[in-house]
Amino acid sequence: MAAIGGRAQQVVCGRLFAAAYEWLLRGSERAGLADRRRDLLTRARGATVEIGAGTGLNIAYYPDTVTELVLTEPSPYMARRLRTRAAQRERATRVVDAVGEKLPFPDASMDTVVATLVLCTVVDLAKTLSEIARILRPDGQLLFLEHVRSGDPRLAAQQDRWQRLWLLFGHGCHCNRDTARAIAAGHFTIERITYGQMPKAPRIVRPLIAGVAHPRAGAGTGWSATSDVDHRAF
Ligand SMILES: C[S@@+](CC[C@H](N)C(=O)[O-])C[C@H]1O[C@@H](n2cnc3c(N)ncnc32)[C@H](O)[C@@H]1O
Repeated sequence: MAAIGGRAQQVVCGRLFAAAYEWLLRGSERAGLADRRRDLLTRARGATVEIGAGTGLNIAYYPDTVTELVLTEPSPYMARRLRTRAAQRERATRVVDAVGEKLPFPDASMDTVVATLVLCTVVDLAKTLSEIARILRPDGQLLFLEHVRSGDPRLAAQQDRWQRLWLLFGHGCHCNRDTARAIAAGHFTIERITYGQMPKAPRIVRPLIAGVAHPRAGAGTGWSATSDVDHRAF
């Protein structure tokens, strides 16, 4: 009985989240988030995979330098909307049912991986980053745009306090993840990172990072050098 209730709850929440997603984000998108997406994606090139593509808010911004586009999405309710958008794209675009923790692509097969507002939600961040590093070619790139744990200890403490409730509201989203540190900790060297604010968003999900990272040969630990750090607020 509990299992049936749990499954029914998942279905209802999944449907509601997919239906409300763009409405919830619309203020932020109009106030600058859409511009951040477009700026980031101008760098996309070659064979490209997007992780947890949601309803496809990035699709419009992929440039012609992207030769092959694969959008992964594990939620069937998000994927339905994603397929509709992908079908409107002039160039061939595949939608694939997959989680970031297990990407159905061969080693070193991709030039670009895109992750926007998704590394906060994957269940296992370290595994997802290791999968992204695995499928990227040695000269490949991870393009990321993510809300993250605040560098301000007071706001970070607030994020920690709200985390459990936010998990429910954000359908699995962690508002307190130190994603930049996780990216640099194991598999990537961050070439460029910009710190800013998600406009018109609740305080606990406002701290935002955008940037480019490259896979590192062999796993390392600690914070990698950032060659181009821009503290411009957006
Ligand atoms: C906040 S939405 C972001 C959607 C889109 N990336 C965007 O920028 O608008 C998070 C997405 O991650 C997906 N997701 C949840 N768990 C995931 C996982 N383990 N691996 C990959 N994607 C996941 C959700 O279904 C949802 O579409």
